[in-house]
Amino acid sequence: MTELAPGVVVRPLTRADLPVLDRFERELFGAGAWSRAALAEELEGPGRWYVGGHEVATGELVGYAGLSFDGVDAEVMTIGTTTGHQRRGVGSALLAALLGHAREVGAANVYLEVRVDNDPALRLYERAGFVRMGRRRGYYQPENVDAWTMSLALSNPPAPAAPPAPSDDDKEQIS
Ligand SMILES: CC(C)(COP(=O)(O)OP(=O)(O)OC[C@H]1O[C@@H](n2cnc3c(N)ncnc32)[C@H](O)[C@@H]1OP(=O)(O)O)[C@@H](O)C(=O)NCCC(=O)NCCS
Repeated sequence: MTELAPGVVVRPLTRADLPVLDRFERELFGAGAWSRAALAEELEGPGRWYVGGHEVATGELVGYAGLSFDGVDAEVMTIGTTTGHQRRGVGSALLAALLGHAREVGAANVYLEVRVDNDPALRLYERAGFVRMGRRRGYYQPENVDAWTMSLALSNPPAPAAPPAPSDDDKEQIS
């Protein structure tokens, strides 16, 4: 467990967190909330990595976020901070944890979609270095709201190059 925001630790989520996640989803995303079944699938899906932000003092879950990785690139699947705990660094800490994990698994880029009218999330992502790539018309249904697609290129240092195999000419010179 790592303390990334004051008084909050970030740790992986498990099925035991589902009832609380289900409640937060409806609180934060309304008509666009994932069902409990969808959340359960996400938590255990291939290439998925979900973390929660927990109050150190009480153990209460105050935020959650998830990443998917397909072997090349990663995608921010969701991020949310409960209403009573927003604007104290929890979202930034969760995003930093996702980006740290993306780097660890070697993702080249991180992508995401965000509602064009979601200023708090846009600011959070732009502060982390994400840039807008394009606009998807009517991406969010049933609200019929557009999404910005955003991306962040991760600067993973390239793997050290293997020394070149000796050519036949080299072999002749050596012998
Ligand atoms: C977006 C969200 C996750 C941010 O979480 P948070 O814990 O409040 O984020 P932080 O406290 O780390 O804030 C980081 C930065 O985001 C921006 N931000 C956060 N809330 C903001 C608000 N209400 N208005 C404007 N900017 C805001 C600010 O730039 C902020 O930095 P600052 O406080 O130093 O100015 C939170 O507002 C949320 O859960 N929203 C509902 C769910 C949602 O829309 N998720 C995103 C789906 S794409």
